[in-house]
Amino acid sequence: MKKSAWYPVAATRDLRAGPAKAQLFGTPLVIWRGEDGYGALADICPHRGAPLSEGCVDKAAITCPYHGWRFGPDGQCVAMPALAETPSRIRAQAFAAAEHDGLVFVQMEASRHDFAPPPPQQDIASATREDSVTIRASLADMAENILDTTHTSVVHAGYLRQATRRQLVQPEVRCGADWIEVVYPESATPSGLVSRLFGTDCYEITDRFRAPGIAEVEYRCNGRIEFASRFYLSPASDNETRIFSRLSIRGTSLLSQLKVSIVRAMLRRVVSEDEEILGLVTDNVERFGRRPGLIAPQDFLRAGIDAILRGEAPERPDHVPQIYV
Ligand code: FES
Ligand SMILES: [Fe+2]
Repeated sequence: MKKSAWYPVAATRDLRAGPAKAQLFGTPLVIWRGEDGYGALADICPHRGAPLSEGCVDKAAITCPYHGWRFGPDGQCVAMPALAETPSRIRAQAFAAAEHDGLVFVQMEASRHDFAPPPPQQDIASATREDSVTIRASLADMAENILDTTHTSVVHAGYLRQATRRQLVQPEVRCGADWIEVVYPESATPSGLVSRLFGTDCYEITDRFRAPGIAEVEYRCNGRIEFASRFYLSPASDNETRIFSRLSIRGTSLLSQLKVSIVRAMLRRVVSEDEEILGLVTDNVERFGRRPGLIAPQDFLRAGIDAILRGEAPERPDHVPQIYV
């Protein structure tokens, strides 16, 4: 993963009451909203090391909870309460921050690339719900897990798919310079509760990964998107991924609102099952000190996800076999 890429670290709604703790590439951060916009600093005061996230926001600056030094979004110390004149050379470590889509994005390593927002999701005039969670898994494992249909009838048996009702289908894989997707035909529609909730059983399902860390799942019926989800993945550390998710169901009626709330509640159970298996995977990889890199024929997206995370263009697999889902 490139540290010059922009990753989300906090939801703007979580910054209304004051600064928030965050973490990116293993570095603890404090994120806040001041009168000049968003600030992102290493969460350690350059004086004695107090966590700035325990301080408070004063106009554009954040105030350290220990001796009250104040720092601007560029890291510059702008005030020391014990001195009439503040020395000009004192700085906290600062990172570029930008707001988009209700999230604060941070760039850990400066580059000449300004923040470029990811492509907008297709507008489906929808009822939406947002969530965030941190899972003990690498970003690549997390992305693959969200987009992988082959574990669902094992880990989420009966809920998303049922092991006894597997269907043989021919998926299609497509890719571009910085994205890869697999499209499943309608016959692959899950037979579990979620599809029944949407009211039909004929969805074409698209699972997509795009740089620098976005997973998307879309359900289409007769070419029209009925359900869409986007998961912004952010590498809190090598083995922890922060996820900011948004679920959207077509329609803005009360029924659509109710459905999206039910889907979110169900997804929470799905996420907790994934959290458990991914936690076991991560513990085991650490126990053995190595990560098996086997890519099976049905792992359509993994090589592409790994390529995109290296900053390379993904390649379409030579052979996409039929699989049982
Ligand atoms: S530790 Fe922050 S001002 Fe002293
Ligand atoms: Fe899962």
